[in-house]
Amino acid sequence: MINASELKLTAVSPDARRVAAGAVVVAVAQAKQGPRLLDSPLPKAESAALQDSLSSLGVTGAADEVVRLPATDSLKAGVLVLTGVGKISGETPDAETLRRAAGSAARQVTGIAKIVFALPAPTVDLAAAVAEGVALGAYSFSNHRSKAPEKGPLVEGVIATAASTHQALPAALRRAAVVGRAVRSVRDLVNTAPNDLFPESFANEVRTVAKPLPVKVTVYDEKRLEKDGYGGLMGVGKGSSRPPRLVKLEYTPAKASQHLALVGKGITFDTGGISLKPPANMHHMKSDMAGAATVLGTISAIAELGLPVRTTAWLCLAENMPGGNAARPGDVFTMFGGKTVEILNTDAEGRLVMADGLVAASAEKPDVVIDIATLTGAQMVALGRRTSGIMGDDGVRDALVEAATLSGETAWGMPLPEELRPALDSTVADLANAGDRNGGMMTAAVFLQEFVGEVDGQKIPWGHIDIAGPAFNDVAPYAYVPKNGTGAGLRTLLAFAERLAAK
Ligand code: BES
Ligand code: MN
Ligand code: ZN
Repeated sequence: MINASELKLTAVSPDARRVAAGAVVVAVAQAKQGPRLLDSPLPKAESAALQDSLSSLGVTGAADEVVRLPATDSLKAGVLVLTGVGKISGETPDAETLRRAAGSAARQVTGIAKIVFALPAPTVDLAAAVAEGVALGAYSFSNHRSKAPEKGPLVEGVIATAASTHQALPAALRRAAVVGRAVRSVRDLVNTAPNDLFPESFANEVRTVAKPLPVKVTVYDEKRLEKDGYGGLMGVGKGSSRPPRLVKLEYTPAKASQHLALVGKGITFDTGGISLKPPANMHHMKSDMAGAATVLGTISAIAELGLPVRTTAWLCLAENMPGGNAARPGDVFTMFGGKTVEILNTDAEGRLVMADGLVAASAEKPDVVIDIATLTGAQMVALGRRTSGIMGDDGVRDALVEAATLSGETAWGMPLPEELRPALDSTVADLANAGDRNGGMMTAAVFLQEFVGEVDGQKIPWGHIDIAGPAFNDVAPYAYVPKNGTGAGLRTLLAFAERLAAK
């Protein structure tokens, strides 16, 4: 399922003309006067000649514009690639602009094993951004093809940077490689067909992933879930012949002052259940486990980087099917911890499995709990395809939004208006699983909030990320984002954990 192919990231000085590689990528910006070639290893005269011919070549420098040209003898590589950075202010693009331009080139230039990325990235941070863009952009998924693709993957990305000998660069490149591998693993899981990926096989894959890492795995099977009273997971999973699982991962470094709990929605396929979804694009609902894949990728990256943050990840895995034993609208579930929920719509299943996960996570009294889920269609109505919705306690929410911005992910903080809560009142149980459709993303978060535990009468600080749109790209690829599974949210969670480590 996960293709753990390694991508090597190395660095050389900006004068990278003689590096033995298949191609050299340089950047073009969209200036007022027209396309402008940015700092590159090309000899002065060649650079001037290329600058003069950019317009007639039809190059504009727009973001995602990637043009291949034959290289001259001044380069050892045979191909010169121009990648657009779009409009920039000043001489050097910012980190995310570089990440996207490098990523777009890595995504579009396929079939070349070793590529030099000679974008203007004079500092460790900017070189790391280029490296990360490369690691995110170089992705393809062919696990379900009968033949391996003819064009092989990128094997080595060489980052040309004035910081090539800086003592902090090796760690920064290593982080970029770890982030890239983690994000690609999320995409692989999301892209895996739902007949292959179901709760039990997902749990087995988790064991494989964790084996080489200092991470302990505990899998709760359906007998244990039933016995312990995980009514959300069991109730949602009832309609499927493939029973639910709760997977707990624990990373416990020696020097940790903070305990971070992560909870991920892992509906391996969401038909809607008896409240069946319409057929159009139902196959996209194989991506409804993206939250679980993301917390798996995040804790793996945290462990690989050796961050001094105790981390526990909970993967809430179930398949939402309309089988003969499926839950009915009107059923009442008793969730883990004892709260009862009346099911008004079996398609609002994510909040039910997440509720069990949040209660289980809270029982360990972590310092902060963050959940991530493809939770609501309303997320896309509110924020569109690319922008995640971040909710929760004000402090955690704002810290998550900051972490998103810092890592180059698009997210927006949303409120949890009190007036949404009464609509979740049930006439028979403690709570109903569906409320006001207006503000449906926030309604779902208000539901989850009910299941966040307390420590000494104080609510555990909590954050919630809705990635319904951003997790799966069903339109054209862009920047370092491929079609289908994207891995959205992982970099935000990792940046949040890194900040927690610094606390
Ligand atoms: N998995 C869906 C949310 C979703 C929709 C994710 C589209 C990605 C793309 C979730 O389980 C769901 O069906 N939510 C319902 C909730 C409603 C019934 C209260 C929704 O958003 O329609
Ligand atoms: Mn659903
Ligand atoms: Zn769902």
